[in-house]
Amino acid sequence: MGGQPLHAAAIGAANNAGELEWLNAVIDSINDGILVIDSQEIVRLINPEYTRITGVSPEQIIGKPLRRVRPGALLPETLRDGRGRVGIYRKEGRHEYVVDMAPIVVNGVIIGAVSVCKGLTEVHKLTQELHRSRETISRLEQRMDSLHQAAYRFHQIVGKDGGLRRLVQLAQKAAESDLPVLITGESGTGKELFAQSIHNESGRAGRPFVPVNCAAIPADLLESELFGYEAGSFTNAKKSGKVGLFEVADHGTLFLDEIGDMSLDLQAKLLRVLQEQKIRRIGDTRERSINVRIVAATNKDLQHLVAKGNFREDLLYRLQVIRLHIPPLRERREDIIDLIDWMVKGTSCRLEERTMQVLQQYDWPGNVRELKNAIDYAVCMADGSEISVESLPQWIVKRVPADDQPKRQVTKLKEVLEEAERGAIQVAIEQYGSDVEGKKKAAQALGISLATLYNKINRLQVDW
Ligand SMILES: Nc1ncnc2c1ncn2[C@@H]1O[C@H](COP(=O)(O)OP(=O)(O)OP(=O)(O)O)[C@@H](O)[C@H]1O
Ligand SMILES: [Mg+2]
Repeated sequence: MGGQPLHAAAIGAANNAGELEWLNAVIDSINDGILVIDSQEIVRLINPEYTRITGVSPEQIIGKPLRRVRPGALLPETLRDGRGRVGIYRKEGRHEYVVDMAPIVVNGVIIGAVSVCKGLTEVHKLTQELHRSRETISRLEQRMDSLHQAAYRFHQIVGKDGGLRRLVQLAQKAAESDLPVLITGESGTGKELFAQSIHNESGRAGRPFVPVNCAAIPADLLESELFGYEAGSFTNAKKSGKVGLFEVADHGTLFLDEIGDMSLDLQAKLLRVLQEQKIRRIGDTRERSINVRIVAATNKDLQHLVAKGNFREDLLYRLQVIRLHIPPLRERREDIIDLIDWMVKGTSCRLEERTMQVLQQYDWPGNVRELKNAIDYAVCMADGSEISVESLPQWIVKRVPADDQPKRQVTKLKEVLEEAERGAIQVAIEQYGSDVEGKKKAAQALGISLATLYNKINRLQVDW
């Protein structure tokens, strides 16, 4: 039997000619080189791949003691000590390969040993493929990061108003930390401008800044957008699954805009993420750790939503660790001039004095965004380089009286009254606390109903 190739029959796996042939075919079709020795270290089997990798033909090796044909072979050691060996590098002449070895054990007795080899060219190919895949991943990561860049920086925030400057200082401090920030303010006051500036000033600059508008996406869709999902987890789900925005924003900032519009169900899930810094994709059992800084914004009165049961109080306190309230433009009218100067810079236009007066008296319900639109419009409509009142959008001119003197007086009085109310409410809230109970007591002390108090807090943008 010595010189005969023994194939698998030698290891007791087959007992008739048909099975022997079948096993032979299996071993011959394996893509790795196979060599088997028996308990006497005699080579009983090799397959064609072994010959291809090592250059050793069956005639040269079958039926011969392995040590004699391949003096450096370690397989006899495996036969002796019964220990498997993995990833052993071998070089015989010009043939280089890597070998795994294992003993063959039947009924507790070592009856031989097998080595499985891979030519280094294959390993090289796989290594190169891995390298290429890694490069592709890193390129895609860079592209993802560049898709989610924040544009604005603090120095682009225009305005000398003391309150605004203090707000910028506070936001700069906030940028040094990873604490959640809640930015409130009317539409167009610059909430996103602040959010982007905080990101760009923070250690997360260069990593993704991912804005999500919670009001623009339907509630059930928002959950899958934020958390992602596993393949086939619901009807209409993509086959490949989807990475959620929490994961996209990993190591960066997630900007939850219009947070007041988030459903209560999702608020509970967001609270969990804030507490545990872990997310679970829809349909997945695995939790994934994430490192995301949350900046949220809203033009709604969240405290009021809490009182109505539409916003979770615990989430509010989690989000507003740092709170920035941007005052409306009509409360910092001196900024209007700076903003206009900045907006017309680079054009050849300048504003006539009367035009400037009209713009300063207008109430700007759409704040800086509305001002910017008005100036863009006026620059476009102006005849020559002087911007006259006629070049302004009609809705602005109509709301500002031609003779501004008496009207200006009344407006000022209104502001004085509002300021007085704001101050009284602030004192009451400081005294009784800003939670619902505190507000009830504050309303009582001020001699107004709780609903009126909420209305005033909202309308007067009281900072509490
Ligand atoms: N202080 C400022 N200096 C320069 N530009 C500003 C300032 N405030 C706002 N802007 C500009 O006004 C526009 C509106 O700002 P932004 O989008 O940040 O407002 P917002 O508060 O997020 O509004 P909304 O609530 O409608 O989303 C942007 O073009 C922004 O660059
Ligand atoms: Mg915004």
